[in-house]
Amino acid sequence: IAVEPFDIVVFGATGDLSQRKLLPALYERDKAGQVPPEARIIGTSRRPLSDDEFRDFARKAILEHIPTAEQSGTVLDDFLARLSYVPVDANAKKGWADLGKALKDGAERIRIFYLATSPDLFGEICGQLGQHGLVTERSRVVVEKPIGKDLESARELNDAIGRVFPEESTYRIDHYLGKETVQNLMALRFANALFEPLWNSSHIDHVQITVAESLGVEGRAGYYDGAGALRDMVQNHILQLLCLVAMEPPTSMEAASLSDEKLKVLKSLKPITDGMVNTATVRGQYRAGASSGGAVPGYLDELGNTTSHTETFVALKAEIENWRWANVPFYLRTGKRLAARMSEIVVTFRAIPHSVFDGSAGPISQNHLVIRLQPDEGVKLWLMIKDPGPGGMRLQHVPLDMSFAEAFNVRNPDAYERLVMDVVRGNQSLFMRRDVVEQAWAWADPIIEAWKASKEPPKPYTAGTWGPSAAIALIERDGRTWHEDED
Ligand code: BG6
Repeated sequence: IAVEPFDIVVFGATGDLSQRKLLPALYERDKAGQVPPEARIIGTSRRPLSDDEFRDFARKAILEHIPTAEQSGTVLDDFLARLSYVPVDANAKKGWADLGKALKDGAERIRIFYLATSPDLFGEICGQLGQHGLVTERSRVVVEKPIGKDLESARELNDAIGRVFPEESTYRIDHYLGKETVQNLMALRFANALFEPLWNSSHIDHVQITVAESLGVEGRAGYYDGAGALRDMVQNHILQLLCLVAMEPPTSMEAASLSDEKLKVLKSLKPITDGMVNTATVRGQYRAGASSGGAVPGYLDELGNTTSHTETFVALKAEIENWRWANVPFYLRTGKRLAARMSEIVVTFRAIPHSVFDGSAGPISQNHLVIRLQPDEGVKLWLMIKDPGPGGMRLQHVPLDMSFAEAFNVRNPDAYERLVMDVVRGNQSLFMRRDVVEQAWAWADPIIEAWKASKEPPKPYTAGTWGPSAAIALIERDGRTWHEDED
């Protein structure tokens, strides 16, 4: 879909996010013909680069992430020609007048300020943009997590941004919402008649959400050690997934309707407080082990600090106290250096009320729906069927299997491609509203406080495994097990 001309100013343009995600995403969208010829991309950071130096930098970043870009004729050169660069030092308050000059002649355009910087700078950058008269009627700001480290700091950050940009112009990215399979969750639930009548505590036994990574902290130990898995993954990505599974059908796919429904789910989450923290949560931290066939060091060795209690793994039993989900636990787990990179949502239906088969049929497994977010994106619905052949009624558990790669022979776009273009189009549906982010912190904060108060270190687990055994015990206490791939 064609979009109108826009200017995008990337703060932190020489940083990691810009190199790995933003520049490649803008390049891909340009290649797909979605970036109008007049659009301008202005990089800024403290580094004193010229336009050409920034273009070289961007060329390298794009080729590193999209090796085929070189072969795409003049597409890459045409894309690079859109780029310019203005050094801006937000702390030293330098460069703002130059940025104003670079943006002149564009006052009527959509203007996007993408803050791909440390969150410490969000307030300062927004304030400077306001003071220098760079925020027009049609300006939008994009920010990334971490949006605060608790409710209080999130509020402060949101206040600082909100003094300059109204909520309708503020785009808080949770890149999981841009993933194709995550959007498919909404299609699955609300474009099929099959599931919604069963989508409640009368028919669903429990839900599992796993976001497992095989990588470690990869040179981000400085940030990560101040965050931990609960802040880094659960407060945002996993709670967003939980909301999409648990929310009521929204009135429409408009941002306001979606955020309203998510907020209700978050408000219904049962608080996990001191008394429950040992039964409803498990924290883990990886020790040296093996990953992808090679030996890898433990978290504390990577960090060079042997006293850190930061969790690199967390498993939780969440409960949603509302009509639809009463007594249906949501088991959540995420971690670094686990046995595989694998994210999935598993919805397990209740057992049949009575079996008409005799013992020779074998056990009857509960139906479950597995939504595989990555890798091998797809949906599997596990059913019981009869074993083929004349040997009597023997039952088997088999999947109705839809692999997206097999069903659609198309490139799976990166989440950022979708999200950046949604900012241009002014569509906030896949972004997080202020109250949603803050409500998620309101649930996460007491857990972090209870861990701190307990003074217990996280449970060690060997890199390359599925986390501490206590995480297995967390679900087995309820007579259930973590889902394992049955193929
Ligand atoms: C980020 C976290 O938000 O998500 C990282 O800060 C994590 O720690 C990453 O590795 C995972 O994203 P993806 O898209 O690779 O699953």
